[in-house]
Amino acid sequence: MRLFIAIQLSAEMKSAVRDIQDTFRWQHVRGNYTPQENLHTTLAFIGEYGDPDEVLEALEGVSFPAFPITMDKVGCFDDLWWAGLADSDPLQSLARKVRHALAEAGIPFDRKKFKPHITFLRKAEYAGGRKISHMSIEPTTMKVDRISLMRSTFGKNGMIYTELGSVAAQ
Ligand code: 2AM
Repeated sequence: MRLFIAIQLSAEMKSAVRDIQDTFRWQHVRGNYTPQENLHTTLAFIGEYGDPDEVLEALEGVSFPAFPITMDKVGCFDDLWWAGLADSDPLQSLARKVRHALAEAGIPFDRKKFKPHITFLRKAEYAGGRKISHMSIEPTTMKVDRISLMRSTFGKNGMIYTELGSVAAQ
């Protein structure tokens, strides 16, 4: 099964991302808008792996304090749009601890540099070729008090993300 470790977003943070999505919709940008329930920040992408219990066990060894994250920017990479989180030591430290725990347990994961973001639109198409080039947002903050092991499956109407377990901050 396809697995990843994520920070689930607060209702307030999701609503702030929906406001960004609405701005794109008002400008007639088409594409695959991430549904509210799927919005998250990935700490580590494992991909196909058969033993979620083993991953949870590794995750349970990760100890971290609760800390705030702030969504403060919007950017794109080709036709994919994301909301970026302000980089911070506790956030980088959490991603490092998660990845270290996976590596120690021999669980493979994508080792691309951690750039904290929330993907909210894929395959963006712009009405009349009028590409959105820049957008600034009011910062939104939430507390991270747990991390989740997620399973991703293909549903009839797109990806379905299911939480298989979580570890709380200490
Ligand atoms: P993305 O939002 O930038 O596409 C589930 O696929 C989650 O894992 C998404 O948040 C996705 O990031 C992230 N992810 C990180 N590395 C990935 C990879 N190599 N393949 C697919 N998803 C990846």
